[in-house]
Amino acid sequence: MNPKRDFLAITDFSSDELRRVLDRAHRLKRGEEPARLEGRSLAMIFRKSSTRTRVSFEVGMTQLGGHALFLSDRDSQMGRGESVHDTAKVLSRFVDGIMIRTFAHQEVEELARHATVPVINGLTDLLHPCQVVADLQTVEENLGPRYDELVVAWIGDGNNMANSWLNAAVRLGFELRLACPEGYDPDPAILERAQAAARVVLTRDPSEAARGAHVVTTDVWASMGQEDEAEARARAFAGFRVDGSLMELAHPDAIFLHCLPAHRGEEVTADVIDGPRSRVFDEAENRLHAQKSILLELMA
Ligand code: CP
Ligand code: NVA
Repeated sequence: MNPKRDFLAITDFSSDELRRVLDRAHRLKRGEEPARLEGRSLAMIFRKSSTRTRVSFEVGMTQLGGHALFLSDRDSQMGRGESVHDTAKVLSRFVDGIMIRTFAHQEVEELARHATVPVINGLTDLLHPCQVVADLQTVEENLGPRYDELVVAWIGDGNNMANSWLNAAVRLGFELRLACPEGYDPDPAILERAQAAARVVLTRDPSEAARGAHVVTTDVWASMGQEDEAEARARAFAGFRVDGSLMELAHPDAIFLHCLPAHRGEEVTADVIDGPRSRVFDEAENRLHAQKSILLELMA
């Protein structure tokens, strides 16, 4: 039997596997792939809020012929302190896969170590890999998979999304320019690995990142769990808003992406996120197709 596969980071897939996942996601969106998870169950552990991740995984499992269970901290024994170890072993006796959204990335790694079924990272403080697969699908729909030529500009916090974009650059080889205020850089180990493997630039100047970029993307200034830092962050990120004049610097065909939820008037102005270059709702929809592809890759 093949060993079980987990998806905790984009780099858990080789470049070829990521290519296969993206190609399948495009076919799934066109309705060209059969449901192949009949009778399978996915447990979904949520220790943080979610709209898109919950709905897309749950609907995705149903569309594939399977079923998903929502387990929140509020009403599962994990919320009362049952260990990750025991939860992993027990859930593995019932279900065919586990998706988890939580704070510490180490918790997901521990879950994956003890589970005998595939574990999928639905967001940690460190990474948000499923989102970036959906983002890549959106990029390919608009610009094609021309990664040799593509420049992606990340503006703002060096957060879980930024770290996952770095991992994507490692696998696909596009140029990634990150503009982050001092003190809000990406994870140093992930950044170092990406700089060794791909064309990655870190700057303090959003214009430098955006100039000629094909994709301009950002995220909230205070992520889930950082609510207490919101004021200090708003000050630090003041010059890092994506607005019309920053988009003007980008490539004429540039698209704007945001994983959502967004704060209009903070990290992005309404004219950009609601404007003609924005693809944020296609990006949200692509969570469904991309994750169905990931589920098939790991569980079919
Ligand atoms: N983008 C994203 O993960 O959205 P949710 O927090 O609603 O799941
Ligand atoms: N960086 C954000 C992404 C939300 C989908 C957060 O972690 O809250």
